[in-house]
Amino acid sequence: MDFQKNRPIVCVQGLGFVGMAMAIAVADAKNKSGEPFYNVIGVDLPNEVGLDKINSINNGELPLVSNDEDLLAAFNRVMAQGNLKATSDPKVYGSASIVVVDIHLDVIELEDGTHSASFGGFRKALQTVGEEVQPGTLILVETTVPPGTCEKVVVPEFNAAMAARGYDEDSLLIAHSYERVMPGKEYYKSIVKFWRVYSGATDAAAEAAEAFLSKVIDVQNFPLTRLHSTTASETAKVLENSYRAANIALIQEWGAFAEAVGVDLFQVLDAIRVRPTHNNIRQPGFGVGGYCLTKDPHFVDIGARELFDIPDMDFSFCKLAMAANKKMPLTALHKVKKQLGGNLTGKTILLLGVSYRQDVGDTRYSPSEPFVVTAENEGATVICHDPLVDFWEELERPVFMDIPSLKGIDAVVFAVQHKEYQELDIVEWVKTNDLVLLDANNVLTQNQVFEIAKHDLNIEFIGKGIK
Ligand SMILES: NC(=O)c1ccc[n+]([C@@H]2O[C@H](COP(=O)([O-])OP(=O)(O)OC[C@H]3O[C@@H](n4cnc5c(N)ncnc54)[C@H](O)[C@@H]3O)[C@@H](O)[C@H]2O)c1
Repeated sequence: MDFQKNRPIVCVQGLGFVGMAMAIAVADAKNKSGEPFYNVIGVDLPNEVGLDKINSINNGELPLVSNDEDLLAAFNRVMAQGNLKATSDPKVYGSASIVVVDIHLDVIELEDGTHSASFGGFRKALQTVGEEVQPGTLILVETTVPPGTCEKVVVPEFNAAMAARGYDEDSLLIAHSYERVMPGKEYYKSIVKFWRVYSGATDAAAEAAEAFLSKVIDVQNFPLTRLHSTTASETAKVLENSYRAANIALIQEWGAFAEAVGVDLFQVLDAIRVRPTHNNIRQPGFGVGGYCLTKDPHFVDIGARELFDIPDMDFSFCKLAMAANKKMPLTALHKVKKQLGGNLTGKTILLLGVSYRQDVGDTRYSPSEPFVVTAENEGATVICHDPLVDFWEELERPVFMDIPSLKGIDAVVFAVQHKEYQELDIVEWVKTNDLVLLDANNVLTQNQVFEIAKHDLNIEFIGKGIK
């Protein structure tokens, strides 16, 4: 692959939400004289979706929807510099000094109710790299994986691939550093101006990872943390997300209590957050979605059983949290059904928000999905709106991007805190109290709620009781 200037090459394997942004960040990294450190090649699969991303990049178009101006500006800079290209040809790994692994690793539910990970595809992806890379290359795994994966899967796979080509074992530098990227308004900053944890399979690998990350991330203001083993840094990622999932799950039962006894739990939580030890307590809502919190808490159990052969650890908090979070959108549906008299047949619901969180257009594992599927199974029609989604891939249906009229609508459910909903003049829009409203995610502002109460509209809330 031709670049105008000769620089060390970084290949980023996987051009998804993480790899795409990381590839831009690496290409945008510059020395004190403003000269880019690297030429970057993004690699994805030669299927329809992968080729679309590759062609977009090579045509100068960002292959994802984002409202983060920093990310768009960085993409335009690297396109002007000409140091980011994309391909599906694995041969390019042979030219790399560094390979960053940003592919997915899914959790699979087995017939007996236990969970496993899609290690087959993951191993295959590592093998394509192992068939091409040169000894001495840094392989930085950023994919979220069960603890033990680098030690028990990644290192053995690369050793076998290198041995098959006549190279010594441990001729590659294998390291782990997990992403904390947050697609949304701070997408780009969440990579280049955010703290990172890393580790190496060997000291030399850890040193190489530190040197690389220090060029891409603002480590003066966001220092790196080195952990003593790859299993430790893999554990850190999985525990971080399990903690958040459990924090959310805990609050759900308090939300239900608040609704039952006429308390506004959001005010209660604001009062608690004043205490610095409790300032990240979560809040009730519509559900937990996205690719990470819906799968990562399973990884500790998978790592223990499948990688460390420890079959008897229960991880009941993680399991309970995952089950509680999965139920959340159905709790909202149950509530709206009750508001509609206990029967959804023939009713039309307008669902406001189908992405998994505000300011992102990502619908993977969105809690809106089970809400819609269950409502329709119970005889309702659901009309969907989202300012950032025009087509909902998972449910294969178009989505309104302009807020529709309420003609024929029986219930409106506010599911995602998109700013468009907070700017609505609800009273003017709704006009009548013939339909019911459910704020399922603390979407409406105090002023909107005040106006709704003043006009006696029929509204209920998740996490707030009305007395
Ligand atoms: N999305 C997030 O907000 C986020 C945040 C932190 C960490 N993570 C983690 O980062 C990893 C990637 O997440 P994502 O959201 O970018 O996933 P994604 O599904 O959007 O992207 C993965 C990409 O890898 C590609 N791919 C798969 N196998 C490949 C192969 N053999 N060669 C080349 N490309 C291949 C896929 O085609 C896809 O484009 C996951 O482990 C995820 O848990 C994600």
